[in-house]
Amino acid sequence: MNRVYIKTYGCQMNERDSEAVAAMLRHRGYAIVDTEHAADVVLVNTCSVRDQAEQKAIGKMGYLAARKRKNPDLVLGVMGCMAQNRGADLLDRLPDLDLLVGTQKFHQVPDHLDNIVATLRGQGPRPSTVVDLAEEAGSQNAIRDHLPASTGGKRQVSAFVSIMQGCNMACTFCIVPKTRGEERSRPIDDIVAEVEALAADGVREVTLLGQIVTSYGRREFPFREGRSPFVQLLERVHEIPGIARIRFTSPHPRGFKDDLVQAFRDLPKLCPCVHLPLQSGSDRILRAMNRPYTREAYAAIIDKLRAAVPDMYFSTDIIVGFPGETDEDFGHTVDMFERVRFDMAFVFKYSIRTGTPAADIPDQLPADVKEARNDALLELLRRYSLARNEALVGTVQHVLVEGPDKLGRRLSGKTPGGRLVHVPGDDDLVGEIVPVRIRHASASAMIGDLAEQPISVETVPGNPR
Ligand code: SAH
Ligand code: F3S
Repeated sequence: MNRVYIKTYGCQMNERDSEAVAAMLRHRGYAIVDTEHAADVVLVNTCSVRDQAEQKAIGKMGYLAARKRKNPDLVLGVMGCMAQNRGADLLDRLPDLDLLVGTQKFHQVPDHLDNIVATLRGQGPRPSTVVDLAEEAGSQNAIRDHLPASTGGKRQVSAFVSIMQGCNMACTFCIVPKTRGEERSRPIDDIVAEVEALAADGVREVTLLGQIVTSYGRREFPFREGRSPFVQLLERVHEIPGIARIRFTSPHPRGFKDDLVQAFRDLPKLCPCVHLPLQSGSDRILRAMNRPYTREAYAAIIDKLRAAVPDMYFSTDIIVGFPGETDEDFGHTVDMFERVRFDMAFVFKYSIRTGTPAADIPDQLPADVKEARNDALLELLRRYSLARNEALVGTVQHVLVEGPDKLGRRLSGKTPGGRLVHVPGDDDLVGEIVPVRIRHASASAMIGDLAEQPISVETVPGNPR
């Protein structure tokens, strides 16, 4: 009655939340297992950003509920955004759930499970579903535990660190402000202590996570010498020995000011790689989305960053088929794609989220239009991505080796620009930054050979670009 499997659907933030819950449960004496069949407790952590992820998770829970009817001791829980979004209504569809935990209550999962397990062991009547969806001040500080390699976890070279929760924007398509609540940031010292502990455990790269990281600490901490709390945080993390690379996701164009642009020039560990959600290249659609910038303002940020770091890599989020999006609007998005030449992008087909303003716009577009626009952008992306990788053939790239590749035949890692590279080599290179001469490129990855002696992270002054 103590083996837990956590299934996560959704973004890096959900992955990070699940990892933190797994670490808390491990601390409490539960074992974390890799398959649902080996588990007595299955927790599903689900995303609500699009309907598809929710439907997938509901399908999965339905299947597990059928298993539970044969094996009543199986404990089932839903946590995270979908639990928060659909609340107790989920119980109408999934009456067999034992646990429903919202986005501000992840840290309560161990207590709830202890109680459920105790009652199932006959120490009380079988409880009805435990529903815990309230807001809780300070809950952003609870997402800090990791599964350290030193206690038997897998060696992690690259780790996610949650720096804040929530979002105060009101993009008309987005459910996140409802599921994640108001912006709340963790103190800089806590985040620094977490990253120091990760570095001591062998982590070499951290990605700072938040719904809108450029708003980090805006209400809690002061600006200093013209630098936002987020840039102050980057500077502090940059000082941590052992950490060779820093990334973050997602900033908001509105918060991308000169202090942050300058940080890319001044902080060599900050990878030359920016994920900057555009959503649409049409000013008319941006207004309807309540995104507070124009295409020109967005392009100006890209230009400034390219001026500061010429070989900068850019990725973005795009929604195609927002209600009322005409061929002309979509043409503006294609135009922005051509102008920026994004190296990577998440292209989403607009998904109606009940309760958001865009759901009530009458002019919803048919699925085939969304599909065609989606495919057109993906084709552009493939071309740009291939061209960018092909331009690196023959060059030497500094690759942070993360581990064996999927087939276990080669090592894989990333360039500072976040491009995937496979390279033959021994496992003792995991966690090292190695020079790799690129031999072959496809749109999604490159293959190369070790170029010289490996460079240990400690001997690299900053991060060679
Ligand atoms: N600032 C957050 C955004 C979270 S949602 C972050 O990037 O971490 C992630 C992306 O999902 C958004 O940028 C948007 O492109 C997409 N998205 C949000 N709501 C959507 C919807 N209703 N339909 C389709 N895509 C959506
Ligand atoms: Fe969603 Fe817009 Fe915030 S996309 S997460 S409401 S910045």
